[in-house]
Amino acid sequence: MSDFNVNIFKARRAEVAKRMEDNSILVLSSSKLVSRNNDTTFPFRQDSNFYYLTGFQEPDSILTVQSDGRSVLFCRKKNSELEKWDGFMWGPDAAKDHFGFDEAHDISEINEILPNLIRGQKTLNALVGKSLEFDQKVTSWINKANSMERHQGNIDLKNFSNVLGSMRLIKDRNEIDLIRKSCEIAAISHRSVMQKAKVGMTEYDLETMYLNEFKMNGSREASYTPIIAGGKRACILHYIDNNQNIKDGELVLVDAGCEYGMYASDITRTYPINGKFTGEQRAIYDVVLEAHNAACHAAKVGNPCTDPQKTSEKSLSQGLKDIGLLKGSLDEILEKNLYREFYYHKIGHWMGLDVHDDCPYSIDGKEILFEDDMVMTIEPGIYVNDTADVDARWKGIGVRIENDILVKSDGYENLTAKVPVQAEEIEQLMSE
Ligand code: GLY
Ligand code: MN
Ligand code: MN
Repeated sequence: MSDFNVNIFKARRAEVAKRMEDNSILVLSSSKLVSRNNDTTFPFRQDSNFYYLTGFQEPDSILTVQSDGRSVLFCRKKNSELEKWDGFMWGPDAAKDHFGFDEAHDISEINEILPNLIRGQKTLNALVGKSLEFDQKVTSWINKANSMERHQGNIDLKNFSNVLGSMRLIKDRNEIDLIRKSCEIAAISHRSVMQKAKVGMTEYDLETMYLNEFKMNGSREASYTPIIAGGKRACILHYIDNNQNIKDGELVLVDAGCEYGMYASDITRTYPINGKFTGEQRAIYDVVLEAHNAACHAAKVGNPCTDPQKTSEKSLSQGLKDIGLLKGSLDEILEKNLYREFYYHKIGHWMGLDVHDDCPYSIDGKEILFEDDMVMTIEPGIYVNDTADVDARWKGIGVRIENDILVKSDGYENLTAKVPVQAEEIEQLMSE
């Protein structure tokens, strides 16, 4: 708590108010505590949008921001009995002062107080469609407020997702510092485990080592469940079983990132468990690396945010053709989407509070253009499944390379550059 800076969150609420139309109110919910099974819960993770505007880390809370700049928090009442079990609770009075709200109330009073806050407003903004339970509550608050103001127009309900998402798209100084640190921790952790990885280790041995490095380097949590996929399991994009042996001669694909100050990092490296790429592994690896580098250069201020995607499709198609995995002309491969047999995900995603940051890629049919201080992952891959119509020596090879890129007007910055990415560098590191 010591480095909590209330001004960051107050400034964001002021900016949100500025972006709202006159006579409107934003209503935003925190995360809930999620039951794991009887009497146990998953670790609490605050909703990223709620955190972005409050810095407040408790469940069962609601924030309102009005277009005139006033903000109100509803949170749990302080309860010393409950604190003996679950730890410190702010309670409305202390939360109001510490987090800089204009008012704060006990959440149990929300059904009486909130309709009064929203009555007479023209528009209620909310992140619609994320939770049926919250949507139903919003509808009931609007109905109650409308019934109090029979002689005025009804309140419009508007989805605020693009407004908040657009704000979150451009990272402020504080966010860039946290993302930089998250990326640094993830990168030195990848480097360290890559150096220690050996034949005989299982996927979960490596998983333990990555999670341990994250924690030892200052990150308590992974930003998503790591993917540690030996051999052909690398072709399963969301493989998280991480419970198999990795055989001598196989590659292991590791997609693992951490969270620091609520901000994500997201790195993938693919390396030979015995420290030396085979000819086929290396050929595919170099095609992916070339596509990765080309796509990074396409993440340029002023370019549409889909340019890295198109660049990666072209580069991978040419590479797949060069090594004989695809036949025909480059135009034909691209027109018929033949590369999708081997490259069946997108090039990357926005990253910030969420690993897949809750930000738009287009608004009203217009693609978002890259601007300074956006953060995107670049993560091309080639996956040769057993079902592919190719020579057996290629089958079961899956390679992805993923780095996190800060877009700047004078070029991109690779925030995860501390992990080796050239095949020779990886082999060198693994032999040390
Ligand atoms: N780790 C999830 C992703 O790369 O998108
Ligand atoms: Mn990613
Ligand atoms: Mn990833």
